[in-house]
Amino acid sequence: MDLSLSTAALTSLDSPLLVVPFPRGGALSPAVLELDGQALGGAIQRALDEGDLRGGEEEAILFYNASGAGPRRVVVLGMGAPGEATAETVRRFAGRGVRQAEKLRLTSMTLRVELPAGVGADQGIQAAAEGMVLAAWDFRELKSPAQEGNGPAPLVASGAVHVDGDGEEAQLAVARGQAVAAGQNLARALQFRPGNVATPTHLGEVAAAMGREVGLAVTVLGPDRLREERMHALLSVSQGSSQEPRLIVLEHRGGKEGESPLVLVGKGLTFDAGGISIKPAGGMESMKFDMSGGAAVIGAMRAIAELQLPLNVVGIIPSSENLLGASAMKPGDVIQTRAGKSVEVINTDAEGRLILADALDYARKFEPAAVVDCATLTGACVIALGAHAAAVLGTDEGLIQELREAGDRAGERCWPLPLFKEYRKQLDSPVADLQNVGGRPAGSITAGWFLREFAGDAPWAHLDIAGTAYGDTPLSYQRKGGFGFPVRLLVEWVRGRAG
Ligand code: BES
Ligand code: MN
Ligand code: ZN
Repeated sequence: MDLSLSTAALTSLDSPLLVVPFPRGGALSPAVLELDGQALGGAIQRALDEGDLRGGEEEAILFYNASGAGPRRVVVLGMGAPGEATAETVRRFAGRGVRQAEKLRLTSMTLRVELPAGVGADQGIQAAAEGMVLAAWDFRELKSPAQEGNGPAPLVASGAVHVDGDGEEAQLAVARGQAVAAGQNLARALQFRPGNVATPTHLGEVAAAMGREVGLAVTVLGPDRLREERMHALLSVSQGSSQEPRLIVLEHRGGKEGESPLVLVGKGLTFDAGGISIKPAGGMESMKFDMSGGAAVIGAMRAIAELQLPLNVVGIIPSSENLLGASAMKPGDVIQTRAGKSVEVINTDAEGRLILADALDYARKFEPAAVVDCATLTGACVIALGAHAAAVLGTDEGLIQELREAGDRAGERCWPLPLFKEYRKQLDSPVADLQNVGGRPAGSITAGWFLREFAGDAPWAHLDIAGTAYGDTPLSYQRKGGFGFPVRLLVEWVRGRAG
């Protein structure tokens, strides 16, 4: 979506559709009241007086403007109770606005932003921009072009955020929201692409092309370099597949030279069949989404570069398939890791932690100020938290708190699980330094403990995004499939660090 800012008088706005918010128990703002009087014959006020417009969260009322001036249609959307409104309420409102335009098969629209009490212009306008750009995106690259009249609604190609005032501050917030959403949409595109398209090689190529576009240094390591680096955990996982593994490294040099970077690590497992410990067939197709963490890091790095954040940031994505060919690793195999610790592979389906172990150890090269990884790591996390929060675990309470707050601000929440030392012994192995699974109890925690063994001394936190990265019950600005989670959280965290 092409997004702009509008500060025009509503009565002279040239748009096929204006979307207006209305909170429960609220009143029409002066600008909307004027539009209503001049262009709609007071129809919105009438809907209010009749009790049809109450501001409930599901409400949408369409008005046609027959006056010949101003927007040709006005849709008023209920916003729910004003006391409960946050930036996320605005983001969802923007998404609903785009869905209204789609329903009317319009390709252009204007969204009027009226900030709820307690939501700053910075945050609220950024959220509106994000909601519009995210909602307007769809994955259509593998469908034949629709025939005249019978395809899905055309995408809303052009949008405007409308605010009162001179718009100077709003312009920056719109640009920020647009950059973050573009990063998140890139992550979604990679997520949606099936395993036969989005291979580790493909992720490397996309990262390299994106890096050239926005000015990131990108290095992609293939099997030879991975062997030189002794990254045998990553190599072992890829052994069962004919697709070569990759380690993708993206560097944003926005800070002072020599300043310790923030490092983002993302699991880029492009298809997880489970390996020899094969998964059941039902729903296995969704394991194309097992690269969601890697996709999010690529998307976040794009936004960080575009926003020119004044910090050094490194993104690292270990990428592999997990299949079961003739040379696949087997249960009971003991593999070496880059860190020098040996691992007994009890279950080849616990592969994410293996490829992340080598990536986290590789991250130590950069002498990071902090390391955050994100991964669709455990089914246990889906059981614990469902779709409404990622799990966060780590070695530094301050970092965990920063991530929770960044997630709250960005509308991508995470919630803590403990890494008490007592859980560690579930990973004890009779033959190696540790084993790759810790049994059924506390599955997300023992997975976190496994990663901790490789995370080094810098403050480190892990986001388990197995329940939040993709799904079938999208919010208004999402679609069924990949959500690009946690691109917004990661960018917001880095932005917070930049001060
Ligand atoms: N990619 C899966 C985790 C997953 C499960 C993500 C469901 C999204 C939805 C991971 O590689 C995996 O298979 N984990 C195993 C670990 C187990 C063998 C200890 C799991 O959670 O079952
Ligand atoms: Mn697995
Ligand atoms: Zn996996």
